[in-house]
Amino acid sequence: MKRFLAPVAALVAGLALVALLGWTAYSWWESRLPGSYNVMDLGVVEAGGGPASEHAVGHGVNIAGLEGPGGKADLRFTLTATKTTVRLRSGKTVDALTFNGRLPGPELRMHRGDLVEVTLRNEDVEDGVSIHWHGVDVPNAEDGVSGVTQDAVMPGKSYTYRFRPDQAGTFWYHTHQVSADNVARGLYGPLVILPRRAETQGFDFTAVVHNFSGVDVLGTSDRPVREAVPPGTDVRVRLVNSDNFTRRFVLSGTPFRVAAIDGVDVNGPTPISGRRLELGAGGRYDVVFTMPEEPVRLGLVDSPVALTFSRDGSVDLPPVSFDRSFDPATYGRPTPVPTRFDRSFDLDIDSSLAFFDGDFGYQWTVNGGVFPDTPVYSVREGDRVKMRIANDSGDVHPMHLHGHHFRVLSRDGTPVRGSPWWVDTLNVQSGEEYEVAFRADNPGVWMLHCHILGHAADGLNMHLAYEGYRTPFEVGGEAKNDPE
Ligand code: C2O
Ligand code: CU
Repeated sequence: MKRFLAPVAALVAGLALVALLGWTAYSWWESRLPGSYNVMDLGVVEAGGGPASEHAVGHGVNIAGLEGPGGKADLRFTLTATKTTVRLRSGKTVDALTFNGRLPGPELRMHRGDLVEVTLRNEDVEDGVSIHWHGVDVPNAEDGVSGVTQDAVMPGKSYTYRFRPDQAGTFWYHTHQVSADNVARGLYGPLVILPRRAETQGFDFTAVVHNFSGVDVLGTSDRPVREAVPPGTDVRVRLVNSDNFTRRFVLSGTPFRVAAIDGVDVNGPTPISGRRLELGAGGRYDVVFTMPEEPVRLGLVDSPVALTFSRDGSVDLPPVSFDRSFDPATYGRPTPVPTRFDRSFDLDIDSSLAFFDGDFGYQWTVNGGVFPDTPVYSVREGDRVKMRIANDSGDVHPMHLHGHHFRVLSRDGTPVRGSPWWVDTLNVQSGEEYEVAFRADNPGVWMLHCHILGHAADGLNMHLAYEGYRTPFEVGGEAKNDPE
């Protein structure tokens, strides 16, 4: 009997091995991304319980027509991308990619309602460049995503963006071509929109935080900075996190208010103190206070960079630490919450062993699928949309939606109790679950991705697509478009 069974077992084992190898080879083959593709042709289309027509996605009006307004510009900027060796304040040098030779790129300051024209010139950045206006809800064709809303701008070429911002607050801009590498290398800068006709008030300081292979730069300096600010002055510090990880700020020496989050004013912000400010990748907080008699320090946790404000600008203060962190969910004065929705979507982030573009390992998944089998959320213009975002992946993911702001409704089942909490980038910790809502009021094809840009490059990206619109651009191909 035994003598008979052994060959059968061997045969079964052999067949199983062949099947496993076959399945592995097939999975590997299947996971490879094509050399060029339209983002609308891949992905899992979801209608969120709303009407879905057969040609909901990837057909209809060409998004290239969704341009900014014509006519004479009120403001013009030129941003030239170059390879530059930049000497930091400490004397250290970094080999960077820059806009206009600076780190960060120049601050673009404008007013709400201005017609703004920005010319991007690429001098010698071989990967190509584009500019995405992070948090500014521009018309789709101005969104600056290579392979989705334009072709990458190659060396020697230029491209013009036009938009009329209908928001006021703190934003930033960055390349959206090979963004996982090239934002980190320096292709980013701050963008500030003042209210219509408003003058800059008091002392207005933009503090973009960025890390160049281990060296922190806050604003334009990798060393502690001292500023002279007369007592009684209104101070606004615009915190921008252009890094690929959460940054923690500590403001000590005065109570302060968080006046705005992601470029949207908080309703009824009250003075707080003794709270750390945790800012996810891509996010912004505007912090305001009246300069007291004594010095005020803005520090960055685990970092030597800091800003100290004092009467004559001669003071340095030692770091302070706070254990509790600021929670936007319980801050400010509430307003009525939307309750009726036309569509509701799920976005469940996890990780599992799988193939991604021919590589085997732990991959990010969305609703169980590995990119490109991640969702394409299909909406119609005017829809009221609800989305549940959950993260069980073991890592934080700052989820960024282009072209829209969304309002956070609840976290882990608890409704937001404070001011309407509007974000364009929501820092979702592992184990957390949020409900958010937005109005589909900006037609086109929009990215929705993690702003730890390496995660997006590893497949944590998807799209929001308006029914009846299509993009003529492709990822890959001759244009070498590579948005992540
Ligand atoms: Cu600030 Cu798609 O990115
Ligand atoms: Cu992520």
